[in-house]
Amino acid sequence: MIIAVYPGSFDPITNGHINIVERGLDLCDKLIVAVSTNIRKTNLFTTEERIEMIRACFPDSDRIEVDAFDGLLVDYARARGANVILRGLRAISDFEFEFQMAHMNSRLAPAVETVFMMTSAEYFYVSSSLVREVATFGGSVSGLVPPAVERMLRTRLEQKRS
Ligand code: PNS
Repeated sequence: MIIAVYPGSFDPITNGHINIVERGLDLCDKLIVAVSTNIRKTNLFTTEERIEMIRACFPDSDRIEVDAFDGLLVDYARARGANVILRGLRAISDFEFEFQMAHMNSRLAPAVETVFMMTSAEYFYVSSSLVREVATFGGSVSGLVPPAVERMLRTRLEQKRS
C-alpha cells in the first residue's frame, strides 16, 4: 500500500496544489495533505483555516486526508506509515531547495522516497506567496485559487486593513 504525504504551507491552497493532489492520487492508495504549522513563519491563515480550505476542495474523496504537522516532516511521515513524500516542482528556481530537502529527508529516513511531479504548464508560475501579493494589491486571483479561497482571501485582507 502506498501512502503519500503531500506537505506544504498551503497559505492558501492554489489551483497548482490541487492539480498535484489530483494527479498524485493516481500514484498512491492514500494521500495525506499535511499542513505545516511552522510557528516561525507568519501565515495569513491559521492552521485550522488552511485545513478547512483544503478539505473543502476535496469533499468527495475518501482517499485524501487533510492533517497538520509540526517538527520534522520525515518523523510525521513515519508516524503516519507513509512511504512517499510528494512534492510539486514548478520552475527551475524550485529545484535547488527541493533537491536539498529531498536529500536531507532521504538521509534522515531512507525508507521514505520523495517523488516530484511537474506542475501542469498552466500553473507553473503560481505560488501562494504571489497569490497573496496580487490579492493584497487588489489584483484578480480568479482561476489561480478556488472561488471559496478567493472569497476567504478577500475577507482576510479586508480584516487586516481595518
Ligand atoms: O509549501 P512549502 O512552504 O514549500 O513547504 C515546505 C515544507 C513545509 C514542506 C518544509 O519546510 C518542511 O518539510 N518543513 C518541516 C520541517 C522539516 O522537516 N525540515 C527539514 C526538511 S529537510
